[in-house]
Amino acid sequence: MILSIESSCDDSAVAISEIKTKKLLFHKKISQELEHSIYGGVVPELAARLHAQALPKILEDAKEYFSSLKAVAVTTNPGLSVTLLEGVMMAKAVAHSLGIPLIGVNHLVGHIYSLFIEKEEFFPLTTLLVSGGHTQLMEVKSFESIKTVAKSMDDSFGESFDKVAKMMSLGYPGGPIIEKLAKDGDRARYALPIPLHQSPKLAFSYSGLKNAVRLTIEDAQKEDYKDIAASFEYAAVMHIVQKLKKYFKISPPKNFAIVGGASANAYLRERVQELLAPYGATLFLSELKYCSDNAAMIGRVAIKMYELGLFSDLHTLGVSPKSLA
Ligand code: KG4
Ligand code: ZN
Repeated sequence: MILSIESSCDDSAVAISEIKTKKLLFHKKISQELEHSIYGGVVPELAARLHAQALPKILEDAKEYFSSLKAVAVTTNPGLSVTLLEGVMMAKAVAHSLGIPLIGVNHLVGHIYSLFIEKEEFFPLTTLLVSGGHTQLMEVKSFESIKTVAKSMDDSFGESFDKVAKMMSLGYPGGPIIEKLAKDGDRARYALPIPLHQSPKLAFSYSGLKNAVRLTIEDAQKEDYKDIAASFEYAAVMHIVQKLKKYFKISPPKNFAIVGGASANAYLRERVQELLAPYGATLFLSELKYCSDNAAMIGRVAIKMYELGLFSDLHTLGVSPKSLA
């Protein structure tokens, strides 16, 4: 079995995965959403302190599996340095005390492998990652061959939902809050700018849209918020739709996946599904509970890395806020 730890942002999670069968034997996650909600976003130092409290508690619950462990996996990048460190320190302590190897896992690869939890992997897969940290389109041919074809130049898709919710003083995380509010709103009421609409660039950008929402909110009343949320969600999703349309002309899709916390967004799912239909392409999604950050996806990558013999050194394994994959 492999023990895996995830602490790249505001979720403390631990999983136990069986190497041979890929079965998930244990998974527990403690989210810090409530603690960060009053700040309208994640406060790194507070997050690190909460991980230091939560991770030992969850590890205690997984103790019965310790004698069967063959390796300890941990997210090392990308993410918040101070929170990644908490997970890495725990992982090192467990690996050292049990005398088993360490596996350092890339969080983005983790989101891709959230599709394969308790399953065999399958490729090639054109994958859109939409999370709080990333908006990235990737051609995934195998574990070793992941090519980014488009990414955000500034804010991410999920982050823009978080910031819009913060502007409306609605709490954190903004994604589910704005999605719910938008359900009763009028998508056409505010003509917000669809990012990079005229640009031939294959890239994403959300800072301009965020500022347009800010100006709209300044002139609005509280009862307008649902229409602003709906109009914002429309522009945010249409931006992705327009860029995918452009990309599909160069590279027609076959197997397409959306992963990451914001892949839970129903409007995004619907519009991408529509886009795929004329190509006869299939849309793959992770189970809802594994869209947002979790340790099961880290464990699934770790099984792959264990099979490939990709271990890390106990003394030199470090963390990085940037993606090293
Ligand atoms: O993958 P994730 O849990 O953490 C990162 O790796 O960043 O993604 C969290 C992000 C947050 O920005 C959250 O607001 C967004 O995903 N999110 C959503 C929805 N659910 C979560 N964004 C839009 N619509 C949603 N339904
Ligand atoms: Zn994530």
